[in-house]
Amino acid sequence: MKFFVDTAEVADIRALAELGMVDGVTTNPSLIAKSGRKMSEVIAEICDITPGPVSAEVTAEDHETMLAEGRYLRDIAGNVTVKVPLTEAGLRTCRVLTQEGTPVNVTLCFSPTQALLAAKAGATYISPFVGRLDDLAQDGMQLIADIVQIYRNYPDLTTQVLVASIRHPLHLAQAAKLGAHVATLPPAVIRQLIKHPLTDRGLEAFTADWKKTGQSIL
Ligand code: E4P
Repeated sequence: MKFFVDTAEVADIRALAELGMVDGVTTNPSLIAKSGRKMSEVIAEICDITPGPVSAEVTAEDHETMLAEGRYLRDIAGNVTVKVPLTEAGLRTCRVLTQEGTPVNVTLCFSPTQALLAAKAGATYISPFVGRLDDLAQDGMQLIADIVQIYRNYPDLTTQVLVASIRHPLHLAQAAKLGAHVATLPPAVIRQLIKHPLTDRGLEAFTADWKKTGQSIL
């Protein structure tokens, strides 16, 4: 399973890349706004940190402007994936960019049939949002199960399922069990994944016993 990091904070991306946890990065307009930086600059910097796909999202709502934005974003670096919303204009833009050889991530997906449309439009990735469905007392992970099954039924569909809006480690465990191709994870969730109370307790005991020996390895 590939791990993308869901942030526009370059310090986090650098630190997690050193752990080998960054197969790619996803951003969205809210994450760029939170970074307080100019979008083209922050995307260029992220693309320098990782050779993996870096999703940069269009902000226009009409096809022509979306397409112009997508072409602008893909020229920032060779590893930019253009992110478009799951609207009629977004699907049309996805189709054109895909035909031009640009990878596209179709975002804001909330139903299995939307995911089917994105695949037919040639999307490289579909981003179903699990956390935002859970927030409405709907089962976000069921959406992942449905999309994975539908795509498996039609092997000619090559779109990868990129699980988005992940809020906690259980989301990741469930998505991995379902065989989703990619999870995009906020840095805080990746750090939560490292931690286990038994690891901490075990390490404390080892350290205390080691001190009693009076030895040092070096
Ligand atoms: C990433 O591609 C999505 O934009 C992101 O995962 C959305 O997460 P949120 O629902 O926590 O804002």
